[in-house]
Amino acid sequence: MNIAVLGGAGYIGSHAVKLLAERGHRVTAVDNLVNGHRAAVDAASRLVVLDAGDTAGLTAVLKAEKIEAVMHFAASAYVGESVRNPRLYYRNNVANTVRVLDAMHLAGVSRLVFSSTCATYGEPGKVPITEEAPQHPISPYGRSKHMVEQMLLDTARAENLAFAAPRYFNVAGAALDGTLGEDHRPETHLIPIALQTALGQHEQVDIYGADYPTPDGTCVRDYIHVWDLVEAHLVLLENLQPGRGLFYNLGVGRGYSVREIIDACHRVTGRNIPTRLVARRPGDPPVLYAAPERMFKDFGWKARITELDSIIASAWRWLRNHPRGYQ
Ligand code: UFG
Repeated sequence: MNIAVLGGAGYIGSHAVKLLAERGHRVTAVDNLVNGHRAAVDAASRLVVLDAGDTAGLTAVLKAEKIEAVMHFAASAYVGESVRNPRLYYRNNVANTVRVLDAMHLAGVSRLVFSSTCATYGEPGKVPITEEAPQHPISPYGRSKHMVEQMLLDTARAENLAFAAPRYFNVAGAALDGTLGEDHRPETHLIPIALQTALGQHEQVDIYGADYPTPDGTCVRDYIHVWDLVEAHLVLLENLQPGRGLFYNLGVGRGYSVREIIDACHRVTGRNIPTRLVARRPGDPPVLYAAPERMFKDFGWKARITELDSIIASAWRWLRNHPRGYQ
């Protein structure tokens, strides 16, 4: 297929571009390079430097490249930032997705895979979290993604859009061949920060609260390898149905605490990772992990790189070889 990957130079988008190209698809990456990296776009694919919210520009690209499906990863994705600057999140995540839908409509493209998030569940009453769990997001980020899910459902009903909105848990790791990795500026995610600390780039890792109702008092999350995650996108793309939306949790189904993650980073790197206990970070739910079975039941898909140390080892390999990221 001819596939446009919006946000194709970002962390997850660049892995999607690589996977799709490897599986024989013709990929056009679209990225404004505000957070993305030119060097992250697989050499086999084309990069168009364009804002996903530029309807006229995107329509022209979709038509010129005879695009048949869109994967939309372009978004702002920091919970804390969304609380401080909600308009940024409603503009980038909601308004720009309306513009993407306009461009798809104008270009006659009716297949879409859209990045959603477990943040749409807010603080779930019980874990593991199934797709039926009530969605009460507690941050502007979570709300922005939930709004788009609703928008997509309405558009699917009205215009026969075929879409999937996989809800990600914590995405981690790097391409297994060492060519791509995670390079956020600033970096806020636990695993890369712990590994950068192992490299001596930070004095210590701040642990955001150890008074949560969890076994060791720190927050528990479900870490899924980025390659598994993008493979699931391809499975969803192959199973889209006109007029319908597919909602699936993408996680491993196991939770690890912040302390367990830091211990694993120590194990994998063999290096000292000093820590400092600080206050809770606003907006962090205590425990989030997926019930991932629906993907398996419906499509026979489940995550393969499930060992925590293997996930961390892939991130470590990339960081050690690219201590300054893509720079
Ligand atoms: N943490 C620390 N210290 C750090 C960084 C993180 O203790 O320096 C903790 C956080 O408080 C959290 C856990 O480590 O408990 C994981 O934090 P991340 O920032 O790595 O990931 P989040 O769980 O906050 O974020 C992820 C996605 C978001 C998504 C969110 C949904 O990156 O896009 O899950 O809850 F919105």
